[in-house]
Amino acid sequence: MKTPSEADEPFAAWQRHFETVLDQHLLPETCEPSRLHQAMRYSALSGGKRIRPLLVYASGQLVNPGLGSLDAIACAVELIHAYSLIHDDLPAMDDDDLRRGRATCHLAFDEATAILAGDALQALAFRILAGNVQTLPRITIRLVSELAQACGSSGMAGGQMMDLQVTGRSLDIAVLEHIHELKTGALIRYAVLAPGYLAGSDSATLDALAHYGRCVGLGFQIRDDILDVIGDSASLGKNPHADAERDKPTFPALIGLDASHKRAGMLLDEALECLGRIKGDTRSLASLAEHMVSRDC
Ligand code: IPE
Ligand code: IPE
Ligand code: MG
Ligand code: MG
Ligand code: MG
Repeated sequence: MKTPSEADEPFAAWQRHFETVLDQHLLPETCEPSRLHQAMRYSALSGGKRIRPLLVYASGQLVNPGLGSLDAIACAVELIHAYSLIHDDLPAMDDDDLRRGRATCHLAFDEATAILAGDALQALAFRILAGNVQTLPRITIRLVSELAQACGSSGMAGGQMMDLQVTGRSLDIAVLEHIHELKTGALIRYAVLAPGYLAGSDSATLDALAHYGRCVGLGFQIRDDILDVIGDSASLGKNPHADAERDKPTFPALIGLDASHKRAGMLLDEALECLGRIKGDTRSLASLAEHMVSRDC
């Protein structure tokens, strides 16, 4: 499976554009407190697939190809993601030492700096979204409010809490799906939906985008669980087999690898079916969906 950037030219161009824009939003390392700004840049600009920004740009093309800047949404989503990874890797959470092929933030710096870098990246995400003067105030309020919902106690943070609480326990697969939808799915769903809010899309389009986002968000985390079993550190940039070592309930642990592959495939079919309900060129979102559930890294 090729990565999106190799498979299709728009993705590579969007990724390059995004790296430049994100860099401009982060204060220089020399700015005091420089240790904090170093840690923020270390984690936010350390590579990564940038799947969430790609979803923002692809969804934006679909709902209104003439849409102005989607950059603020793309940056906000990716900064929330970067913060969530820093905190996810902390000793109090997953206690990981490798992320994107290098030392996790708390090892490259220290735990206090990592916690603060995560906090500050989250604040920066909301500042970028709220400060985007290209958007009408009522739309900005919706974008900010929905992002807070997606990453708060009813979204990513809530899912992370549940993920920690169920560690070491056997679960019903429906409960694990719910946890995955919150901890990973909520932010991915937001990345897909936010351009629809920006474009003032009708409710049928928003419903279809939301359903697509739910399917690819869950499918993405199922693939992450699978890769923890079958992947290697060179391609993943993180340590494989970490879930089993920690006794995390994952899709492969609960239903096995074959059934996990099948569930991811079903979610892909469902996601593609949702795109059929939206007018416009759905090829980029279709290609991203395929990549998200079958990627190798
Ligand atoms: C890793 O996310 C954490 C999950 C939610 C599965 P990504 O796989 O998108 O990580 P990067 O950004 O590419 O490093
Ligand atoms: C992380 O899920 C979800 C987040 C909200 C960060 P994982 O714990 O499975 O992500 P990795 O495998 O460490 O990237
Ligand atoms: Mg985790
Ligand atoms: Mg983790
Ligand atoms: Mg994982």
